Amino acid sequence: ARIEKAGHKHFMAKEIHEQPQTLKDVLDAYLDDGRIAPPATFDWTGIDRLTIVACGTAHIAATVAKYWFEKIARLPVECDIASEFRYRDPVIAPGTAVMVISQSGETADTLAALRHAQGQARTLAVVNVAESSIAREAEVAFPILAGVEIGVASTKAFVNQLAVLLMLAVRAGLDRGAATAGTEAEWVAKLTALPGLVSQALAVEDRCEALAHRLAEATDILFLGRGPMYPLAHEGALKLKEISYIHAEAYASGELKHGPIALVDRTLPVVVLAPTDALFDKTVSNMQEVMAREGQVLLVTDAEGARRASHGVWEMLVMPTVDPVLAPILYAVPAQLLAYHTAVHKGTDVDQPRNLAKSVTVE
Ligand code: G6P
Repeated sequence: ARIEKAGHKHFMAKEIHEQPQTLKDVLDAYLDDGRIAPPATFDWTGIDRLTIVACGTAHIAATVAKYWFEKIARLPVECDIASEFRYRDPVIAPGTAVMVISQSGETADTLAALRHAQGQARTLAVVNVAESSIAREAEVAFPILAGVEIGVASTKAFVNQLAVLLMLAVRAGLDRGAATAGTEAEWVAKLTALPGLVSQALAVEDRCEALAHRLAEATDILFLGRGPMYPLAHEGALKLKEISYIHAEAYASGELKHGPIALVDRTLPVVVLAPTDALFDKTVSNMQEVMAREGQVLLVTDAEGARRASHGVWEMLVMPTVDPVLAPILYAVPAQLLAYHTAVHKGTDVDQPRNLAKSVTVE
């Protein structure tokens, strides 16, 4: 069937707005009566380490998952870019599971990385397109059930990749007897609340649209985050580069003083992704270093963070309150919307940005 924009100006906008539903779809398929019961099974007992390999946005999802698998399942994780992994002759120790993540299931480097790992490790795939090469060739494939994604810049597939990865991290924790950060029922309750929260998060769209003209004037934008929000900073920067053609960089907040602070002046917007978590005050002090040098801080936080840290910031986007572990899923929304509206303001080809392809099936 032909897929239409359903009243939206671009497929990307439609796909951003579909996220509460597509997220609910994947949760419905993985959650069963208070349990996490994925449609495919993988036994995590006997796995000592996990290597996650992917490209682009899927690689960013991998780097979020590293925080989750280490925190929830106490499983050591290494993330790699597929084009590096496949040629590096990586050491794959006994007891390693190699997981590839791919929306299309056809990315040439990711498929080659999977083939490289076969025979040396247990292999898993997290894929959107169920009848793809990667889904077929991996030992076990976990579907993300995001539906067809047309916009070149991935949105709903990223959010569903994250949801599946979080559920797999909890499953791994349960199998390994290490799920310390809450019981299965607590995780299920938190996950079940997510589609509603994502829907509420879409309310920041008007603010993003209003800020777009300011961001569109910038030649460079810096994204900062700590913990699992650090990979999200990468996602914000990647989305912005892909569709608005503005140079953007992501840094772990704690690295600010080791380089990027030299770039800060009045012309540099700095997007700080900071839900109130255990590291919030540290992030605020990094933010103050930016403001002391006249950097324009756009703080993306929750109501509590807005109350504690609004002083001196250029702008704020106030998000629904969420358990910090799940925050990357929610904060994907403002990252997408800032890029989208900045691109629309600049008049770029949002769904088909120059030089990019939806699926890179050649090297
Ligand atoms: C291309 C797309 C990205 C995507 C990446 C990996 O660069 O433009 O949106 O994240 O490929 O694609 P995959 O299908 O393997 O997730």
